[in-house]
Amino acid sequence: MSSILEFLNSHGSARKFTGQEITEEDEMTIVTTAERSPTSSNLHAYSIIGVREGATKLKLAELCGNQEHIAKSSLFLVFCADLYRLSQVAKEKDYRFSGEYTEMFIVATVDASLAACRALMTAQALGMGGVMVGGIRNNPEDVAELLNLPDLVYPVMGMSLGYPESEPKVKPRMPIAGIYLREKYSDASFQEAIRSFDKMIDDAGYLKGREVEPENYLDYTGEYSWSEHSARRMASEKPTVLRAHMREFLEKRGLLKK
Ligand SMILES: Cc1cc2nc3c(=O)[nH]c(=O)nc-3n(C[C@H](O)[C@H](O)[C@H](O)COP(=O)(O)O)c2cc1C
Repeated sequence: MSSILEFLNSHGSARKFTGQEITEEDEMTIVTTAERSPTSSNLHAYSIIGVREGATKLKLAELCGNQEHIAKSSLFLVFCADLYRLSQVAKEKDYRFSGEYTEMFIVATVDASLAACRALMTAQALGMGGVMVGGIRNNPEDVAELLNLPDLVYPVMGMSLGYPESEPKVKPRMPIAGIYLREKYSDASFQEAIRSFDKMIDDAGYLKGREVEPENYLDYTGEYSWSEHSARRMASEKPTVLRAHMREFLEKRGLLKK
């Protein structure tokens, strides 16, 4: 048990890979173990697309905001929320289909995310490393075309996998009082947790070179802490940062209409 806990607590994302191939056997272990994840109402409302083709990975790297690790990964997985397969099941039975409801969008998105989490853990358990890629939603129309995604399917996240060049760093996390509340929600406990997390991140220098560009914060002279970074991130109204295209894209796919 302690080794499982040690393993779970040793997670760090990997973005640099040696180029060593991932065997087909390991690829199948990753996806079959991902499929053991819980799935809402046993609906299996997700699909995983495995990409090994160099040209496709190169294109995806560009579409995800020029993320080099995608092109250099041995295997790139795309986790899709998928209501299309279920729509085909309904069609076969000649039943109506409620794929346009927000709740169904949530069900499918959560299913895809749970599978993704387990896929990454499995790859790590097999000695590989990887990183989740929200950048897959930067240009979702192009991604959908490239991967031949039908309506009612959208890419929730990608995942670069490979053998890491070096042991990934274990990044600090917010003190537990910031995210775990007993019995009732209260914002009293997270204030202190945020202050100490600010210090941890600042001391570790994790945000050096990753500063969110000043918009109207030119007067700010304080430390560039996690809270400064996150507040700037959340203040941004840049369509690229907010992926403002997502709502229209999802509606066009037949999702989130009700
Ligand atoms: C849904 C999701 C999307 C992410 N997208 C990206 C991404 O596009 N590019 C990237 O380099 N890291 C991405 N990450 C990785 C996070 O930046 C990383 O998990 C976080 O900084 C914590 O670091 P750690 O995973 O090493 O502990 C993503 C993580 C999640 C959960």
